[in-house]
Amino acid sequence: MAIHIKSDTEINLMREAAEILIEAHELVASHIRVGVTTKELDQIAEKFIRSKNAYPSFLNYHGYPASACISVNEEVVHGIPGKRKLQDGDIVSVDLGVYYKGYHSDAARTYAVGEVSADKLKLMKVTEESFFEGLKYAKPGYHLNDISKAIGTYAQKHGYGVVRDLVGHGIGKQLHEEPQVPNYNTPRRGPKLQKGMVLAIEPMINMGTWQVRVLDDDWTFVTRDGSPSAHYENTVVITDDIPEILTLRKDLGK
Ligand code: MF3
Ligand code: CO
Repeated sequence: MAIHIKSDTEINLMREAAEILIEAHELVASHIRVGVTTKELDQIAEKFIRSKNAYPSFLNYHGYPASACISVNEEVVHGIPGKRKLQDGDIVSVDLGVYYKGYHSDAARTYAVGEVSADKLKLMKVTEESFFEGLKYAKPGYHLNDISKAIGTYAQKHGYGVVRDLVGHGIGKQLHEEPQVPNYNTPRRGPKLQKGMVLAIEPMINMGTWQVRVLDDDWTFVTRDGSPSAHYENTVVITDDIPEILTLRKDLGK
């Protein structure tokens, strides 16, 4: 097994998948409000992705039963959409993948529902910022662990728990490719970063302990102490200098 280096042609196709993903995220975001069910959000995403002749990457992936992962409050990731209605004060992470013309693209955002406490807002902000701390090292000349260490150090500096049971990943023809991308410092430097590597970098940060457990549905990860958790993810291309974030709008920076 090796890290797949993508050609410019492949990056162009991944850019197309990512463009659909950006639009799907924006559409879902526009429907987030008190009272909406997580299943409704999932269906909005699935319908849109299919309307673009693309396929939701997560649907049936290892048997996953939905198109989106929607994780509320103490749910970390892989929340299965259902009848649960979003409530005032919730934070909700929406994780979506799009498969198009043979390539995957993957991104997650965490949103506030109604009026959210200052400490939850800070958790969301620091999680997003930790991604950009890692991104500073997403360049040739650095090693993978430079990204991991920067993310983890930044989140820990704010007193948060950095999830260790789940990691980011290479992405391309497969949703999960090598290398794994931890969000914490590791004893190994990891591979040297090279132009053409594509990484899904995805900090999962808890307000309390880093420890997680899986619910009886065999999918949903929750924090062990019940504290809230945030998730922020983009699909990133390593280039000769500044990395390209495929899943962020270039104009708006969002
Ligand atoms: N975005 C997640 C990841 O990067 C979710 C995929 S798991 C699935 O691994 F099974 F829900 F698809
Ligand atoms: Co991912």
